[in-house]
Amino acid sequence: MKNKGVIILGSSRSNGNTHKVVTFFKEKTGFDLIDLNSKNIGEFDYNFENRNDDFIPLIKQIVDKYEVLIFATPVYWYAMSGIMKTFFDRISDCLKIEKETGRKLRGKSMGMISCGADLELKDGFSMPFKESANYLGMNYLGDVHSWIEEEEIPKPVQSQLIHFIENNIKTVDLI
Ligand SMILES: Cc1cc2nc3c(=O)[nH]c(=O)nc-3n(C[C@H](O)[C@H](O)[C@H](O)COP(=O)(O)O)c2cc1C
Repeated sequence: MKNKGVIILGSSRSNGNTHKVVTFFKEKTGFDLIDLNSKNIGEFDYNFENRNDDFIPLIKQIVDKYEVLIFATPVYWYAMSGIMKTFFDRISDCLKIEKETGRKLRGKSMGMISCGADLELKDGFSMPFKESANYLGMNYLGDVHSWIEEEEIPKPVQSQLIHFIENNIKTVDLI
């Protein structure tokens, strides 16, 4: 598989459980990894006061370099992390002041990996990802829920990640 995919990690700790899961995923796919926790990305602002922070250069790099975007988020209070939500909110910059960049998202693919303490996700967790993909003209590849047991990725989670890579990601034409 050619390296045209990127994992966008949205955990509040760079080396926590979600990072453990994405490291496995990265090894299996060769995808690059972007850690949002290491970036300075402010909240969405209607006056675009945060336009000079890390968001716009980062999204430009993502749209120019990658065809597949995998959002990896811990489950915090039954939802995506705040860092991840802020990243999605800032995509609104691309609908107003960075329209050309926003248009480049069309036709790309998006998937999602969640990492929680519970073995199951509550209904609706994946909806914002699916609907955002739909709104942005992106293809939704599906999602995998993960968790960590005794510092390790349990075998069933490993199997689901491999299944997701084989069946949902390798079907994308990565040139
Ligand atoms: C603020 C906060 C809220 C959490 N809420 C949930 C939750 O609603 N459901 C759940 O299964 N786990 C919840 N957890 C547990 C984390 O999802 C779990 O420990 C995850 O592996 C953390 O990943 P991280 O190390 O990348 O942050 C929460 C943890 C934190 C810190």
